[in-house]
Amino acid sequence: MIIAVDGPTASGKGTIARALAAHFSLPYLDTGLLYRAVGRQCALTGGDPDKAEDALAACAFPEALLDDPELRSEESGGYASRVSIHPPVREALYERQRAFVTQPGGAVLDGRDIASVIAPEAEAKLFVTASVEARAQRRFEEMAAQGRAVTLEAISADLAARDERDRSRKDAPLVVAEGALVIDTSALRREEAIAAAIAAVDAFA
Ligand code: C5P
Repeated sequence: MIIAVDGPTASGKGTIARALAAHFSLPYLDTGLLYRAVGRQCALTGGDPDKAEDALAACAFPEALLDDPELRSEESGGYASRVSIHPPVREALYERQRAFVTQPGGAVLDGRDIASVIAPEAEAKLFVTASVEARAQRRFEEMAAQGRAVTLEAISADLAARDERDRSRKDAPLVVAEGALVIDTSALRREEAIAAAIAAVDAFA
């Protein structure tokens, strides 16, 4: 079974996708991490994330970069959303994601364009979302717990800017794919959101 989980930043899609992978015993790929690695590699090598050729060159990032905790930072998320605008970057990462989708037994992937572009054949498609306020508050608590110096205002502004970029780009924008089920996690606790997602996938099967 292939399960596609799409949605905006800090909607809870990663938590849900990981829980689904554990529940259904499927391998899991966080595709945002690939874009974050490209963004960070671009920054580390002095490239301009807004230039397609610099962003494309950064697609040859070393594998070890995927384990760098810095990839989880807001800064890396911002770079990721800038490099992900360029169609050649999306093409460069396509085959790698397809190889994950087509492995025997299936997989769970989360991202922005899983149901629409990467795995349109997925049996279960979920779109996980939440209000900007709820997402900013969660991200703020996560960052504060990691001891990062952040403010709720800065996080809200960053989320709103990233949402806008992800939704308005021409190539593979963030959309609710046809046939996807929307789960709004704004008022749900972690366990409730996971239970709703498992029930939704069971209903697709
Ligand atoms: O999900 P995450 O916040 O880690 O993604 C970081 C950025 O990478 C997103 O804001 C988006 O611009 C980009 N992305 C994408 N397509 C995906 C996954 C992430 O464009 N499938």
